[in-house]
Amino acid sequence: MKALQIVKYGEITESLSINEIEKPTVQSKDILVEVKAASLNPIDYKMAQGHLKELLDLDLPVTIGFDVSGVVVEKGNDVTSFEIGDEIYARVPQEQMGTIAEFVTINADKVAKKPENISFEEASGLPLTGLTAIQALEKAGLKEDDRILIHAGSGGVGSFAIQYAKAKGAIVYTTTSSKNVDWVKALGADRVIDYKEEDYKEVANNLDIVFDTLGDDYTFDAFKIIKEGGVVTSIVGPPDEESAKIMGIPDYNLPEQLSNLIEEKSIAYKHTWMQPNAAQLKEIKTMVEEGDIKPTVDLIYEFEDGIDAYEYLATGRAEGKVIISLS
Ligand SMILES: NC(=O)c1ccc[n+]([C@@H]2O[C@H](COP(=O)([O-])OP(=O)(O)OC[C@H]3O[C@@H](n4cnc5c(N)ncnc54)[C@H](OP(=O)(O)O)[C@@H]3O)[C@@H](O)[C@H]2O)c1
Repeated sequence: MKALQIVKYGEITESLSINEIEKPTVQSKDILVEVKAASLNPIDYKMAQGHLKELLDLDLPVTIGFDVSGVVVEKGNDVTSFEIGDEIYARVPQEQMGTIAEFVTINADKVAKKPENISFEEASGLPLTGLTAIQALEKAGLKEDDRILIHAGSGGVGSFAIQYAKAKGAIVYTTTSSKNVDWVKALGADRVIDYKEEDYKEVANNLDIVFDTLGDDYTFDAFKIIKEGGVVTSIVGPPDEESAKIMGIPDYNLPEQLSNLIEEKSIAYKHTWMQPNAAQLKEIKTMVEEGDIKPTVDLIYEFEDGIDAYEYLATGRAEGKVIISLS
């Protein structure tokens, strides 16, 4: 079968290659999925570039990609939750990475049926970003009437998080650049802050929650605009102790600058290292079918143009999700 593989660490054009490889075989708890569409995520190209080498040591060559939608074509002896022909979507576990290919095996416990009212392409864009947003916002204890700032509302995670937070009854502020203001507003955000025109720190402050999807100074500056007792929830800042354990970082301590900020203002700091979760995929399916969440697809590429698709995503300017179609 054909697969898009990381063959060495480095620039995207040099590290990725389309190769002919053997079709994977199912273990007892797996399903074999014929891939109809797969979506790209920044973690994929960060791995190819070698930025996550110390955290996730890859045995190269390895097929890239975590997000998938497709059809079950085979199942292991212990699988009772799916039948041949079922249409599914998933964020595959780390050890089964490799969705940008014609087929992928997935532990059935990490899979859910795909939302029925959307295409395979749309469905493939939901798992990783949706699970990340849900897990980060649940950790923050998001509830009705909370005032939350979600950074990068036009990104894969941000565009899902806005819709999820609105469905939970929160008051949503979000940042984006001028070109994206209208469609981000259409996702339901109460106040879209054009970061080219306004200083978000002046518009959004005394917040209950800041969802940090940008990192660096944004993580630390979140503490300037949050109310006492609020929560900074990050997916790109330094891990907290819980994430450090999941990420396998031994003897971890929070950076001193962060510990001081937490103490000074009695603000909680949470970090999420997204984990596959079938129950949350089912929740997303229901929300999509009930119209609370709409997929945000930017561009759809053919499999053969997968390397171009990754180069585009790596510009950091994608508006929603970048998808590869194998239909
Ligand atoms: N910890 C985890 O488990 C986890 C899970 C998922 C993702 N992540 C990380 O979270 C980050 C976001 O992921 P993603 O999939 O949402 O990325 P993405 O889709 O590539 O984000 C692109 C978007 O970011 C916006 N953006 C860039 N700079 C901005 C700024 N200064 N202010 C506001 N918006 C800005 C861009 O909008 P403009 O063009 O308008 O600037 C663009 O629409 C990535 O670093 C990813 O690796 C972590």
